Amino acid sequence: MADTSVHEMMRYYTAADEASRLGTGWFQLEYARTQELILRHLPPAPTTILDVGGGAGAYACWLASLGHEVHLIDPVPNHVEQARASSTQQPNHPLTSATLGDARELPHSSQSADAVLLLGPLYHLTKRDDRLTALREAHRVLRDGGLVWGAGISRFASLLDSLSNGFFDQPEFAPILERDLAEGQHRNPTGNLNYFTDAFFHLPDELAGELTDAGFDLVELVAVEGSGWLARDFAHLWNVPQQRERLLAALRKVEHEPALLGASSHILAIGRK
Ligand SMILES: C[S@@+](CC[C@H](N)C(=O)[O-])C[C@H]1O[C@@H](n2cnc3c(N)ncnc32)[C@H](O)[C@@H]1O
Repeated sequence: MADTSVHEMMRYYTAADEASRLGTGWFQLEYARTQELILRHLPPAPTTILDVGGGAGAYACWLASLGHEVHLIDPVPNHVEQARASSTQQPNHPLTSATLGDARELPHSSQSADAVLLLGPLYHLTKRDDRLTALREAHRVLRDGGLVWGAGISRFASLLDSLSNGFFDQPEFAPILERDLAEGQHRNPTGNLNYFTDAFFHLPDELAGELTDAGFDLVELVAVEGSGWLARDFAHLWNVPQQRERLLAALRKVEHEPALLGASSHILAIGRK
């Protein structure tokens, strides 16, 4: 993994706390919706799942707690340590393994998994060839009929995030946004963690096309947070149970609407081998 973007990504994850992210703000919506979209298609336990780019283990440990055999792979040492620590907190349902590795070269044999999660690598790998290599690796390790969940960040996420979170007018953000909108190549030379790290931001159809180019049949292309992450008072909607259900129901109604897919922070392409 020796290029500048990888170096930047490592620097970012040393400073940003990935372990607590999904429990804060609108990331709670990302977590709940991603769980829903995993369970929508995952066969009943026990299955064998590879969580590639599994970070600190939020999805891997949850899936292990449901009785699945889960292997987590991530290139950031701190993430693998955090995932192992979370796993020890659930001694009856630990992760089967948590190892350092790269989505482009998985340490697993062919036809050995029922499901592969790629919730990170497809936006961190900035070159299309690398993303296709990662997707072909997922295809190789899956059994026939196995499923992949590939997450992308929307091409328009920087625009919407900067408008709703008040940093659109910051001069050092202007060139970052300009390049995002023009070509999806997100580069953050500023060191400001609010601007994320080097990444590639997909158009929805581009993400779906990468799955099919790697040999998958597309099961669905779906908005994760939809426009819910832009809610003016997200905490209120999320913390009042009735409002949370209303929000989730509304987002589900438009989750496949092509005109709205790019308004979601994350887009999920689900594919079958
Ligand atoms: C934003 S985190 C997401 C973590 C978790 N999957 C989630 O959805 O909350 C992105 C993860 O992708 C991992 N990642 C980046 N490049 C990768 C690669 N080439 N292979 C595997 N994982 C990678 C990062 O280390 C990080 O843990």
